[in-house]
Amino acid sequence: MERLISVCLWLILALNLVSRVAGNAEGDALNAFRINVFDPNKALQSWDPTLANPCTWRNITCNVDNSVTRVDLGNANLSGQLVPELGQLANLQYLELYSNNISGTIPEELGNLTSLVSLDLYLNALTGPIPTTLGKLTKLRYLRLNNNSLTGQIPMSLTTIMSLQVLDVSNNQLVGDIPVNGSFSHLQPISFSNNRLNNPPPIPSTAATSSGDTAIGAIVGAVVLFSASAIIFA
Ligand SMILES: *[C@@H]1O[C@H](CO)[C@@H](O)[C@H](O)[C@H]1NC(C)=O
Ligand SMILES: *[C@@H]1O[C@H](CO)[C@@H](O)[C@H](O)[C@H]1NC(C)=O
Ligand SMILES: *[C@@H]1O[C@H](CO)[C@@H](O)[C@H](O)[C@H]1NC(C)=O
Ligand SMILES: *[C@@H]1O[C@H](CO)[C@@H](O)[C@H](O)[C@H]1NC(C)=O
Ligand SMILES: *[C@@H]1O[C@H](CO)[C@@H](O)[C@H](O)[C@H]1NC(C)=O
Ligand SMILES: *[C@@H]1O[C@H](CO)[C@@H](O)[C@H](O)[C@H]1NC(C)=O
Repeated sequence: MERLISVCLWLILALNLVSRVAGNAEGDALNAFRINVFDPNKALQSWDPTLANPCTWRNITCNVDNSVTRVDLGNANLSGQLVPELGQLANLQYLELYSNNISGTIPEELGNLTSLVSLDLYLNALTGPIPTTLGKLTKLRYLRLNNNSLTGQIPMSLTTIMSLQVLDVSNNQLVGDIPVNGSFSHLQPISFSNNRLNNPPPIPSTAATSSGDTAIGAIVGAVVLFSASAIIFA
């Protein structure tokens, strides 16, 4: 009997330990970010990694299951870099880090944040490419990466995000074409301005109007569209 009680106690202790470690995983991910940034205004002072979860930390919001849904740190005067661990916040919906002094690259692991609705990294000092993995963010509505120093091309994968309402990549050093896709047409032109992008391809509907004949115009439009995509995919 005594033996049974001690086994039970040991089990309860072990389970408790496991659940605490699991509960801390998101806190650990955020703490990895905290120790990687310079925080002169002490915006992250309340981020105590010894607490059971990060839900009471300032500018962090959790759901009822104590899983992080928001990180609101716009205008916090943070310097330093993002960390791949941020990709572990499985229920994160809002990652707001705009108007800081964050440098380095955007971790491709952010493509694992499949609950993300808003990714706001504008007005920072980010370099390197826009990760192709961001195309996996199927719930994303706001993607604002403007006013950084991002290079490379705009990933074609972004055109598969049907939920996207706002895409702003203006004021970077992006090159190449704006992906030709119906899902992007309503976003031009301000969202892409002040980069080193090629001129946007002609829009077929303009050809239809100027020809004065809708049938011929539609054919001209289709040919333009076809050759544009042939050039792009060649
Ligand atoms: C961060 O939290 C503080 C205190 O709750 C609040 O005053 C501030 O507006 C928050 N910052 C952002 C960007 O939400
Ligand atoms: C931001 O931090 C820098 C030090 O890195 C400091 O000089 C500056 O005053 C801070 N700006 C604000 C608005 O707090
Ligand atoms: C911005 O970050 C860079 C490098 O990370 C640093 O040298 C600079 O002092 C920071 N500027 C401010 C205003 O904090
Ligand atoms: C997150 O993304 C990276 C790179 O995109 C990948 O290698 C990694 O396996 C992913 N991690 C999880 C837990 O899904
Ligand atoms: C973004 O960058 C452009 C070009 O340098 C500048 O004119 C604009 O004021 C910047 N936006 C903000 C909000 O600072
Ligand atoms: C382009 O847009 C269509 C729908 O407008 C979508 O089905 C497709 O996945 C998008 N992307 C590519 C790369 O074709």
